[in-house]
Amino acid sequence: MIRAAELIERKRDGGELGAEELRELVLEYTADRVPDYQMAAFLMAVYFKGLSSAETFALTDAMVASGETIDLGEAIGRRCVDKHSTGGVGDKTSIAVGPIVAACGVPFGKMSGRGLGHTGGTLDKLEAIPGYRIELTTEEFVEQVREIGLAIIGQSANLVPADKRLYALRDVTATVDNISLIAASIMSKKLAGGADAIVLDVKVGDGAFMKTLEDGRALAEAMIELGRRAGREVVCMLTDMDQPLGQAVGNALELREALATIRGEGPDDFSELVLRSVAHLLALSDLGIDEAEGRRRAEQAVADGSAVEAYERWVRAQDGDPAESALPAAAVVSKVKAPAAGVVERLGAIQVGVAALHLGAGRQTKEDVIDHAVGILCLRKRGDEVAAGDVLAEIHARDAVSAAEAEAAVLAAYTIGDEPPRKRNIVLDVIS
Ligand code: URA
Repeated sequence: MIRAAELIERKRDGGELGAEELRELVLEYTADRVPDYQMAAFLMAVYFKGLSSAETFALTDAMVASGETIDLGEAIGRRCVDKHSTGGVGDKTSIAVGPIVAACGVPFGKMSGRGLGHTGGTLDKLEAIPGYRIELTTEEFVEQVREIGLAIIGQSANLVPADKRLYALRDVTATVDNISLIAASIMSKKLAGGADAIVLDVKVGDGAFMKTLEDGRALAEAMIELGRRAGREVVCMLTDMDQPLGQAVGNALELREALATIRGEGPDDFSELVLRSVAHLLALSDLGIDEAEGRRRAEQAVADGSAVEAYERWVRAQDGDPAESALPAAAVVSKVKAPAAGVVERLGAIQVGVAALHLGAGRQTKEDVIDHAVGILCLRKRGDEVAAGDVLAEIHARDAVSAAEAEAAVLAAYTIGDEPPRKRNIVLDVIS
């Protein structure tokens, strides 16, 4: 039997814990036999002293063992691919990627989470679709991936229960932003979900957990190493989150943008990220093609309409209405105009994310109810030239008062000057 206090002390003093010790600590905590206060102290010791690569893997493995696992590949008799993003502002990538991957003949079954704070969750976005059912049983999920080729659902309560407990504890003990803890949290869910190969999108910049490319690389390498130890192939893209992704921030607005993108009419940065993600996923699948061919097939599925058909099949299978006109629309739409001519030097992702949150597009506490219709369209982005009075952004609000507040906040997120910013590609680097 472990003594939690002894493990905390050893980690506090910079020592190394064994795999069995970490496993027992996690399992005893999940079974309520180690209290929150000891786990909180342990997390803080980890925050300051770090975990070795072997310890990070042991922690991840223990988290996977805390609940049920799914072997999707085994269940549908195909190699399964999955993707995960570390979260940002305007990140609706999975909603556009899924239908394109499915249209290219690769099964895509994904369990997604909800957003908290300024980052939105895929599930919240999908709930903007009238009727869409996010809860399927494991059997329904597997069957839908087999029959339709695509399912995106909420994470089952029994999958990695340790992460749910630990994440909630980290959230209130200032121990979220530690690379080993983030890597273990993300990879435990991907490993338990049964993907054979995983494309990770590590967001870097103002609106992301990882503020610098250096930190982003360290997180990417930690997750690739966890994948290697678990026998899964992992490709990690490092992508820009210094400004919102695409134009839309807010649930129904993001769905419209994802739909436009699978029709080939999306904003450049978002479309590029979606096509790159699909190309990597197809190259990791059992199609036996490389990334260049994956990109070609992804573009083809967009151009010939098969991606839109896959979207419609998928949404109907989950009882949703796939018509764009069925998405909710906000009562008030107002405009943010450029006060002077110049070039957009900066568009702060966090500021836009927080403005959308205050409009009601996200949750400030777990109990908050989301308004799916509200949000922000950032029509001008970094590097765009504007004349005085040009529309920078649109505010979609439930009333005039919240619209006015958001207008001021979004205007403050823009820096307009005469220095064109250094060009920054959406994909900053790819590591595997
Ligand atoms: N996303 C997760 O799932 N876990 C973390 O710890 C951070 C981001």
